[in-house]
Amino acid sequence: MSDQAPKTHFDLIVVGGGPAGYAAALYGSSAGLDIALVEKDKAGGTCLHRGCIPAKELLETAHVFRTVADASKFGVESSAPSLQWATTLERKASVVDGLFKGLSGLLKKRKVTVFDGTGKLGSDRSVTVAGNDGSTVRITADAVILASGSVPRTIPGFDVDGRIVLTSDEVFEMQSVPGRVAVIGGGAIGCEFASMLSDLGSQVTILEALPQILPGVDKDVVSTVLKSFKKRSLDVRTGVKVTGHSPGASGTTIELEGGETLDVDAVIVSVGRRPLSESLGLAGTGVNVDERGFVVVDELCRTAVDGVWAVGDLIATPGLAHVGYAEAILVIKQLLGEQAVPVDYSKVAWCIYCHPEVAFVGMTEEAAREAGFDVVVSKHRWMGNSRALIIGDTDGLVKIIAEKRPDGSAGRVLGVHMSGPWVTEQLGQGYLAVNWDATVDDIAHFIQPHPSLSETFGEAVLGLTGRTLNS
Ligand code: NAI
Repeated sequence: MSDQAPKTHFDLIVVGGGPAGYAAALYGSSAGLDIALVEKDKAGGTCLHRGCIPAKELLETAHVFRTVADASKFGVESSAPSLQWATTLERKASVVDGLFKGLSGLLKKRKVTVFDGTGKLGSDRSVTVAGNDGSTVRITADAVILASGSVPRTIPGFDVDGRIVLTSDEVFEMQSVPGRVAVIGGGAIGCEFASMLSDLGSQVTILEALPQILPGVDKDVVSTVLKSFKKRSLDVRTGVKVTGHSPGASGTTIELEGGETLDVDAVIVSVGRRPLSESLGLAGTGVNVDERGFVVVDELCRTAVDGVWAVGDLIATPGLAHVGYAEAILVIKQLLGEQAVPVDYSKVAWCIYCHPEVAFVGMTEEAAREAGFDVVVSKHRWMGNSRALIIGDTDGLVKIIAEKRPDGSAGRVLGVHMSGPWVTEQLGQGYLAVNWDATVDDIAHFIQPHPSLSETFGEAVLGLTGRTLNS
């Protein structure tokens, strides 16, 4: 037995082990910082255990199901696919578990000290950890990063029971695929679940309060998603207000404003997420929290208290794991005394993994016009792309928005918006163009491999020069 007292002072304490928190711990420890990570559940957070990773894993099951259902078109005969949901859940669990083990191993290798418990901020950059084993320990550091993340928002009248009413926290543990399901909220999470369940055989209805699903997404891109959803008999109702529901023996009846009702076996509430700041004990610490619960920070992620920072879903920036990573790196660079450039939130990559996939960066056409830009727009569809025809996946488009120069030609690339096959993997060129403030001339001579899906991006860029190859 070691007679050494447990260490209680560190260079840095990170509260919360989701993507933002573990990125801070891993990046900081790789630069030699001595770090404590406080996590009440499992390192990996929502993204790994109840978000991005299991969602994309189940969407891949939907992809496999669609592929098998379509196999005869390729001359491959097989029996109609049938879903073994228990196996699906096992595979999802094994992917998550593998990544969790990898992350835990990495934290150990980097000598990050992990405290299993709930951290509360105290004075003088201290954190009191209420351990999951009932113990209490006070630790201190030269800096503290708050990264406690977010939880699903719910709506009045829809008490989550994990059986009939679910949020993204419960969907991943469903014991079967519901026959009829309503998805309340047609944002990124709602559309991913709706697409996945529809492909796996559920009759899905999206109930969205706004006039359009996928808020913030370019309207032409949304149209392609709607068209595909419609083709797959997925019912999308926009501008609807849900007033309540009356559970029965095995399902529930949803009531809509105007008197209409909808009978379903399950309801998935996906109306956004809220920051989880209440358990951090921030009252009286000097760290400010806004009326929605977000911790208030400046563009360098600094709270009002010297040496205390906040990153990830806890602050009012895009709720994306990769934004959390970027904010974590930004803070660590400052702790190391290095030059730190604030994250440009208007140019982050957005990826939504429904079918067809959606990926975009920069301004939508509407936003560019609203911001006062005169624009040139180029749109190209997958129907003319040989690889898309080969793989049999031609829904969607690539749309590029460029600033119009006084002579009418296309200048700086303002936005790249895509829907269709593997666009979440294809956004890279658009991301670089927008983030390097490239002009159309800068990238129009880039050569795209043939045959490849990336040719549609190339065609859309060429289109902005006024000339094209294949269209
Ligand atoms: P969201 O804010 O993107 O969408 C919520 C939708 O629900 C909105 O369209 C809103 O108008 C609608 N809504 C709100 N109240 C409603 C009501 N009472 N009845 C009907 N509709 C209502 O939130 P979402 O989809 O839950 O995602 C949460 C966060 O997670 C977002 O920050 C999102 O960016 C992030 N996320 C990103 C993903 C991705 O990029 N692939 C995937 C999943 C989540």
